[in-house]
Amino acid sequence: MVDSAREVRNERLARILPEALEALHEIIERHRITEREWLAVLDFLTEVGKKDEFVLLSDVTKTSVLVDSITHEDGAATPSDVEGPLYRENPPWRERPVKIYEEYEGIEEGDVLFVRGRVTSTDGTPLGGAVLDVWQTGPTGGYDVWDERQPDYNFRGRFGVEEDGSYEFQTMVPKPYTVPTDGPVGRLLEAIGQHPWRPAHIHFKVEAEGHETLTTQVFFPGDPYLENDTIGAVKPELVRPLERCEDGEEISRRGLDAPFYTCDFDIKLKPATRG
Ligand code: BEZ
Ligand code: FE
Repeated sequence: MVDSAREVRNERLARILPEALEALHEIIERHRITEREWLAVLDFLTEVGKKDEFVLLSDVTKTSVLVDSITHEDGAATPSDVEGPLYRENPPWRERPVKIYEEYEGIEEGDVLFVRGRVTSTDGTPLGGAVLDVWQTGPTGGYDVWDERQPDYNFRGRFGVEEDGSYEFQTMVPKPYTVPTDGPVGRLLEAIGQHPWRPAHIHFKVEAEGHETLTTQVFFPGDPYLENDTIGAVKPELVRPLERCEDGEEISRRGLDAPFYTCDFDIKLKPATRG
């Protein structure tokens, strides 16, 4: 007897793919997609691959954020958010008092910001051994890798928290920026009228022994792109107010000569599951 059913090697794929194709076929039928249009889609995807823009396509279709949320869902921990492509491995270790940037021409366009908080486990236990890795845009020209005026690794850094889990670092208020628009994904955004802007944010990667590493982002109220981030990464719990300090004594105590901002951001990590 000949067994007509082939062995299924990936049950999950064999279950999901027919549903994905059914949804795609339904849309093709509903919109009466023509051969010319379908070939244009295939050409577009080929170019996305050649230009290495599949992750960006996943980002601007808000798929990356959805998958990230499903993967790291935990109501008690600080919400996760996507890492994005601007992370650089091995940023400089910053000693206390932590400052993650060096002065450069143009920096005076920005405002100094102190971000501070406590890293704890979801049950409130302080995590004194936690290490933070942060990266963000500066007040000019975006990330260090795009802005020729900035020293390498500016607005990036790793540092440890205090024994009680508290931390503070000096940075500058970041600015909104656009995702790369010079390739096929940029053309797609223009064609469908989707702007390429992201609201200003600071990326965090937080590690502590016995806990799952958290990758997330912090946003600020009043940003023009808060409600319509092109990658859909804004979550209400991650929007933290900026407080302006104009107190002369406090300004000089911090060695500054102009008002500055503070932002409080406590971080809760999920205990790692064993096995
Ligand atoms: C970012 O936040 O760094 C980012 C995320 C997605 C696409 C481009 C940049
Ligand atoms: Fe970013």
